[in-house]
Amino acid sequence: RQNERESLLIVLNFAKTFFQETLQTSDEGKSIGLSYFRERGFTNPTIDAFELGYSFDQWDALMQAALRRGYSRDVLEKAGLILSKEGGKVFDRFRGRVMFPIHNVSGRVIAFGARILKTDKNQPKYLNSPETPVYHKSQVLYGIFQAKQTIRQEDVCYLTEGYTDVISLHQAGIKNVVASSGTSLTTEQIRLIARFTPNVTILYDGDAAGIKAALRGLDMVLEEGLNLRLLLLPDGEDPDSYVHKVGAEAFKAYIQQHSQDFIDFKANRWLSEAGDNPLKRAEGISDVCTSITKIPDPLKRQTLSQRVAQVFHVSEQSVISEINRQLRQQQ
Ligand code: CTP
Ligand code: MN
Ligand code: MN
Ligand code: MN
Ligand code: MN
Repeated sequence: RQNERESLLIVLNFAKTFFQETLQTSDEGKSIGLSYFRERGFTNPTIDAFELGYSFDQWDALMQAALRRGYSRDVLEKAGLILSKEGGKVFDRFRGRVMFPIHNVSGRVIAFGARILKTDKNQPKYLNSPETPVYHKSQVLYGIFQAKQTIRQEDVCYLTEGYTDVISLHQAGIKNVVASSGTSLTTEQIRLIARFTPNVTILYDGDAAGIKAALRGLDMVLEEGLNLRLLLLPDGEDPDSYVHKVGAEAFKAYIQQHSQDFIDFKANRWLSEAGDNPLKRAEGISDVCTSITKIPDPLKRQTLSQRVAQVFHVSEQSVISEINRQLRQQQ
């Protein structure tokens, strides 16, 4: 099995280099792929740091190159690089797309994300590698290899939704950033962050889907004992679009001014919805308390109870009783 894993990693590395060379040296790659990255504002050092590439708009360019170099069809298929349809037709999975290699924590390529260049309702915007013996989507964070050193230094990890959020923030000098890549956040992903820092700031897209995902991820981060802040971008923006719009310095200032701890994040949403409806306020307190019950450390729970009491203008004792009531119920 160790041998199989290693041979998959080797062919994935071959594919990565092939896609890079296609981007940098072929006419099609330069005129379509490279100009796409240019339009998105990616510089050469950024393209190199993330090892970005381009796949020819042909049926089997990668497969033919790989077979010529002695790689087998079997290993290409197990690596998720080719597909075979009934009737025996075999072809490249990724064609005519810009390529985002996905690295594991030690920097080896384990999968790809691939974006179409123009929006087309009949095709998914991103195609991703399938699960393989070396790629388990739920255990991976995009950008962790490029980010890990800075996550340690800055002692905080920014968690975004997408590939280009990671890349554009990195280029803007904010390098402690990873993406859950569209999937809902998993416990394994949170534990991966926890290897480098106990502090997470969620920077999801400022749309309904982003808010929903942030609320879903919130309790899971707390359950793992991490400290959590959240920031919603203005509606319709994501970290990539917003950093290009306002620039690196203004983006950093925006994070400083607008990120909230999870209590304020949840409480503000409840308070603006509840107005002076006492039942809604009670529902809000109960909901924030549910999140607090997820925190493993009793001392932290205690301190945060004081904050909840202040924010909702109720006694600390009533908050503590609510938390204890819920904890008893969960047992
Ligand atoms: N995603 C995916 N498949 C899709 C759409 C999205 O895997 N069909 C994942 C990708 O990892 C993507 C992330 O979900 O980066 C966030 O989706 P979205 O916000 O729609 O894309 P962006 O990252 O903003 O992509 P872009 O800026 O290139 O449009
Ligand atoms: Mn495995
Ligand atoms: Mn989105
Ligand atoms: Mn987005
Ligand atoms: Mn985007």
